[in-house]
Amino acid sequence: MVKVAILGYGTVGSGVFEIIKENNDVVNEKSLNDIDIKYVLDLREFPGDPCENVLVHDYDVILNDPEVEIVIEVMGGLHPAYEFVKAALEAGKSVATSNKELVAKYGAELINIAKSHKRNFLFEAAVGGGIPIIRPINMHITADRIQQIAGIMNGTTNYILTKMEKEGADFDSTLKQAQDLGYAERNPEADIEGFDAVRKIAILTSLAVEKTVNFEEIYTEGISKITSDDFKYAKAMGKTIKLIAESKIDGDKVVAGVAPMLLSEDHPLYSVNGVVNGILVRGNMVGDLVFIGSGAGKLPTASAVVSDVVDCIRHLNTSTTIIWEDKKQELQSFQDSVKRFFVRTKASQPEIKEIFGDVEYVDGGMAGEGGFITGPLSEKEFEIKASDLGKIISRIRIAD
Ligand code: HSE
Repeated sequence: MVKVAILGYGTVGSGVFEIIKENNDVVNEKSLNDIDIKYVLDLREFPGDPCENVLVHDYDVILNDPEVEIVIEVMGGLHPAYEFVKAALEAGKSVATSNKELVAKYGAELINIAKSHKRNFLFEAAVGGGIPIIRPINMHITADRIQQIAGIMNGTTNYILTKMEKEGADFDSTLKQAQDLGYAERNPEADIEGFDAVRKIAILTSLAVEKTVNFEEIYTEGISKITSDDFKYAKAMGKTIKLIAESKIDGDKVVAGVAPMLLSEDHPLYSVNGVVNGILVRGNMVGDLVFIGSGAGKLPTASAVVSDVVDCIRHLNTSTTIIWEDKKQELQSFQDSVKRFFVRTKASQPEIKEIFGDVEYVDGGMAGEGGFITGPLSEKEFEIKASDLGKIISRIRIAD
């Protein structure tokens, strides 16, 4: 019998409780052991809830109980999650978490502490919700040099963009609708400005290069400036707009960014709609692998957390090999990265040609403006040309 404790009885925590109870036979069979939830930690009371009998309010009860082998951290936020997780690992317990903020900031440190105690710090649910992506990058795609990771890693923004595309709605009203339906947070900044996605691409890239990528150094642009008119142009081009978190790896050269991008119909992530996430991993031997599934939500996220609990139980006194060193991975300047750009402008075609040369013109059916697609340009080159042209309404990068 392996005793576990759940820290936080919110959406994911109650999902973990539910899965361990409801799928008990499966989970025990896969663990080759029996799981027992000894404690649930939360500040709140849950009268009548099945967790009531194991509910505690003091973390020290869990920390000081040598019977607890695995701590499941699903509280979210950095503090006190970091202190609680670090203390658990130092006390010789394994930890499974869904907390991407924690992993993006302290991943390498917590993995090392776990290793030094022959325990595990696992975080499958921190990226892509229920989609297996951490374990594949860490343990399966190990014969390849990973050259690119590109993904729709935020369900809220994908839900909003899908609605805007399908219903021709504007950003503000779609966001409000998403909030009313509980898909978007009341304070949606982390999702819509890309701060959630940037942590996720930092985690995946760190695993791919086995060093620490600082998410704060990654170029991040959200979707709040995308308009229904942008979607009219996208439709005219046979494309759609998605928030893409991407990194490109060429030896020690790594460049990463998060931004809305135009995807053509043949792009593997073109049809990833609604709250679904999709992640493309390109290896130099295996080629393209695409992982698609529920990127958020109670049971999908909890399912990934419980898969880590099973892994912890299978490896109770051995560290599974997550390689992610504390050493910093320097990033190439985003300004030097090259893409094609779609541009909306009030400038005339001769003016465009003078600055950008031969481009592909796009008619979005809008009076007093037009669109065009540039050839490949670095961010720096594009900015200079755009400033020379002036009269720019907006620009969106085109996914390769
Ligand atoms: N807010 C996140 C999303 C939750 O919308 O994808 C999962 O990390």
